Amino acid sequence: MESEDGMALDWHVARALLEWQLEMGVDEALAEAPVDRFAVEAAAREAAAQREAAPARAAAPVRQAAVDPVAEAEALARAAVDLPALRAAMEGFDHCQLKRGARRLVFADGVATARVMVVGEAPGRDEDIEGRPFVGRAGQLLDRMLAAVQLSRAESVYITNVLPWRPPQNRDPRPEEIAMMLPFLRRHIALVDPALLVIVGNISCQALLGRRGITRLRGQWTEAEGRPALPMLHPAYLLRQPLAKRESWADLLSLKARLRDLSAPG
Ligand code: URA
Repeated sequence: MESEDGMALDWHVARALLEWQLEMGVDEALAEAPVDRFAVEAAAREAAAQREAAPARAAAPVRQAAVDPVAEAEALARAAVDLPALRAAMEGFDHCQLKRGARRLVFADGVATARVMVVGEAPGRDEDIEGRPFVGRAGQLLDRMLAAVQLSRAESVYITNVLPWRPPQNRDPRPEEIAMMLPFLRRHIALVDPALLVIVGNISCQALLGRRGITRLRGQWTEAEGRPALPMLHPAYLLRQPLAKRESWADLLSLKARLRDLSAPG
């Protein structure tokens, strides 16, 4: 055995050194060669300093590769050839924060071949639990309103929302959340291909018409996604403002008349 300075160690000295090491708690050989921990730490510090000092362009490729959620949604939506494929694409879309807080995706309800497609805003608590749009109090009112003009989700109406996931505490969806889910809604409308759209509430009007102010927009036929569209007051608003049901009744009659015109021959 040799000491660090290359001198031969006497057996007794070597044994005394080993015993001292044991007493210090060194009782296991980890590697054949010794490791200078001071040198390792110094090298790590040096590497970190070099990374920090590296020019900003080193980080640029990472930023360029960042995902564009809207572009990704557009590509996924475009590739969906039918409603089950669209639903699967939405289930697999991970960029919308709302997905994390929601129990389930609320895709749609009703008849996929219907001439009337209702577009609401976003699921609430009941819809989040059940996985179907408009099943809470507002939804029950919507069903009664449709029934008043002989329409129903069982036979003649298809219903979806701008957002498929419930926003936490039912807060308004954020513009970026709407923007990244809009390609899916557009594809949804194209696949169902209804004769006309009923757009309920401000958020849906903002998404599909680029306009807010539902109390002014309601009842005014316009066009969205290449087909006639009727903005209407949201049933949740009608629950709070029952007097406004008068306006909604007028809008429902207008919807019924439009459907009659569409079915009239020639
Ligand atoms: N409000 C909506 O806009 N959509 C629903 O599905 C439920 C309530």
